[in-house]
Amino acid sequence: MTLPTKHKALVLKAQNDLSIETFDVYHPEAGELLVRVEAVALNPADWKLRDRGFQRYPTVLGLDAAGVVVAVGDGVKSTAVGDKIFYAGYLSDLSLGTFQQYNKTRPEFASKIPPNLTFEQAATIPLALTTAATGLYGKVQPSGGAGLTPSWTPEGRGKYAGQPLVVFGGSSSVGQYAIQLAKLSGFSPIITTVSSYNVELVKSLGATHTIDRHLSSREIANEVKKITSEPVKVIYDAISLSETQDAAYDVLASGGILIIVLGAKVDKDKITPDKKIIGTHGSCYSPVNRELGISLCSHLTELVASGDIKPNASEVVPGGLTSISKALDRLANNAISGKKLVVHPSETV
Ligand SMILES: NC(=O)c1ccc[n+]([C@@H]2O[C@H](COP(=O)([O-])OP(=O)(O)OC[C@H]3O[C@@H](n4cnc5c(N)ncnc54)[C@H](OP(=O)(O)O)[C@@H]3O)[C@@H](O)[C@H]2O)c1
Repeated sequence: MTLPTKHKALVLKAQNDLSIETFDVYHPEAGELLVRVEAVALNPADWKLRDRGFQRYPTVLGLDAAGVVVAVGDGVKSTAVGDKIFYAGYLSDLSLGTFQQYNKTRPEFASKIPPNLTFEQAATIPLALTTAATGLYGKVQPSGGAGLTPSWTPEGRGKYAGQPLVVFGGSSSVGQYAIQLAKLSGFSPIITTVSSYNVELVKSLGATHTIDRHLSSREIANEVKKITSEPVKVIYDAISLSETQDAAYDVLASGGILIIVLGAKVDKDKITPDKKIIGTHGSCYSPVNRELGISLCSHLTELVASGDIKPNASEVVPGGLTSISKALDRLANNAISGKKLVVHPSETV
């Protein structure tokens, strides 16, 4: 396969300063893959880092990708040139962000795309699913999770039958994957907060009961009590604004764990030592999640091939990398509901 020598990347050069640059195509080092990126999905982190600033410039943003392996570094055995893979990006190095036409990843953090999935569907999965998984199954420690047994292992499948679980924000990308993993773990009922127009979506993924997300904290707690009299020991707050964290903490039973995806904002006056709050970090590159992430990636092809994990709905935004900044504005303005925006870097002119 003849590779181009140059490619285009969307580069964050300073706060709020995104532009298209031409880079040399990377060379995969030992243990790395070089990928032609076919589809990238946009995440809230991308607009937050653009607008609020990042610790390092220049940076190539982008945390989700699907593409074709075009070269492998020394020692790579599990993945070959021509394989179609999906994987999360990482921002520690320009070559690992996904908003570019070629990027690098590691085989242990990537999964092959099964035939039932398009590149666009596959690109919706890695970051949000990993975040759902680290929150539920990560170690009980900062940046870890609730310490449950992973649902893709024989011991974990169905293990929590009869135990309730609540997901705040079931229609969000992370929430959709948290519901699906909770279903595989056997939790029941699976209760989620959602807008009326996304009720069918979250039920199709495994939610058994829904609560209007616009109710007050007190009303949400009352609705949960009407649905189950069992203590709620695991809550996944996929939104993690102060109002959802406060509402979730009120619902959480003594001995329970609240998983959050942003900084802790629970009202300090209500925090008690018997209820844990764990902020998760949905990256396989994070040492605390490395082993879990590798385990998830090694089971992910089968999970999506079987339909146990369904991708988010996606909307393809035309125009390649050039269109990303405007598309991120839609995310920042809360104008995206129940789906991911996806871009084809190859369309960049
Ligand atoms: N810690 C990590 O490693 C990590 C990783 C990934 C994401 N995150 C964070 O996790 C959050 C979710 O990310 P995402 O990609 O899943 O977001 P997303 O899909 O873009 O979220 C949009 C969805 O959230 C729903 N929503 C908004 N406010 C809500 C509320 N108060 N209650 C219930 N649902 C609500 C919206 O529903 P409506 O249609 O009703 O408006 C919409 O469907 C973001 O803040 C993101 O930065 C953190």
